[in-house]
Amino acid sequence: MTKFRTLDDLGDLTGKVALVRVDLNLPMQDGAVTDDTRVRASAPTILELAAKGAKVLLLAHFGRPRGERVSTMSVSMTLDAVQAVLGKEVMFVPEIAGPVVEQAVGILRPGDIAMLENTRFWKGEEKNDPELARAIAANGDIYVNDAFSAAHRAHASTEGLAHLLPAYAGRSMEAELKALEAALGNPVRPVAAVVGGAKVSSKLDVLTHLVTQVDHLIIGGGMANTFLAARGVNVGKSLCEHDLAATAEAILDAADGAGCTVHLPYDVVVAKEFAANPPSLRTCNVHEVAADEMILDVGPLAVEALADVLKTCRTLVWNGPLGAFETQPFDAATVALARSAAALTKEGALISVAGGGDTVAALNHAGVAEDFTYISTAGGAFLEWMEGKELPGVKTLEQA
Ligand code: 3PG
Repeated sequence: MTKFRTLDDLGDLTGKVALVRVDLNLPMQDGAVTDDTRVRASAPTILELAAKGAKVLLLAHFGRPRGERVSTMSVSMTLDAVQAVLGKEVMFVPEIAGPVVEQAVGILRPGDIAMLENTRFWKGEEKNDPELARAIAANGDIYVNDAFSAAHRAHASTEGLAHLLPAYAGRSMEAELKALEAALGNPVRPVAAVVGGAKVSSKLDVLTHLVTQVDHLIIGGGMANTFLAARGVNVGKSLCEHDLAATAEAILDAADGAGCTVHLPYDVVVAKEFAANPPSLRTCNVHEVAADEMILDVGPLAVEALADVLKTCRTLVWNGPLGAFETQPFDAATVALARSAAALTKEGALISVAGGGDTVAALNHAGVAEDFTYISTAGGAFLEWMEGKELPGVKTLEQA
């Protein structure tokens, strides 16, 4: 694994200013944060720096204001949640650079924490403008990146700053990179990947990369229908990207060539309408789907076989649900396979790493998120990493 500096490389920081990139792009409803996972992930980094005596300045984006001050996208919307998780008062500073930040630094005592405004209120952030990065860096002594989930963005606060100040990976970044390295970088084999979700088109690069990396590729969700259809299965009125048949074939061929076994469902749960517990619900072989039915989940026989596949593997990487898991009973396959993976992980037989928005929700729903080896806080960054891409925010830390 490539080396980068961590908080272990830092001694006493009394009086120094630490600019810490965190991810406060949190889900909100009616003005309140509904999931503070990302804050909890970065709390150890923030508190460790504060305990070392640093004045901690948090940098984060919130939403996509595209270079304008949009009051509903002020990062201060997350202030209460951040203070609650940290158990400490956090000063809010409505700028990210310049004299207002300088004044705030003057007021802060060693160990105090401040939250700077949404970095994306400034046009230079997303352009990775060196001038903006220099202006932000002027108020700091060190830069810590603890936002793996934003590391796929080459922005001033995620990439530019690492060139200007001594740069370190925070604890959450460190844990993410360690887990991802164990899952795909240098994994214990055999490796299985579960890839689900609605559309092949959204995960084309993931699938293309994975077939060259893993021993077993388990495809579920709506995207499995595209593969089934490409293989000549009549999927009725299921969600299916028929125009991607050739692409699906090419992925299956590439898997063959690379010695990767692709697992598609051979029994499925179908219904004539997409609703909770519909009267038309039934389970059938994939070759028996009627023209007016849609596939909404992987069937129980296939799930049992997939659980057996996992028993032969030592590493699992999971992205995306196997069925329409938000609507019952189409959560059954995801829940059952997630529980099998969790049980194997608990026995010490499997290293299991999962990530991506829906995935975490699905594993929480299955009640097994705690039992996986590692759950990434990242959505888009996790996918780009599964595509085999180099993440700019990680690359600069390695070069620093
Ligand atoms: C996320 O929520 O996945 C990250 O914070 C990145 O957000 P973005 O997709 O708006 O860059």
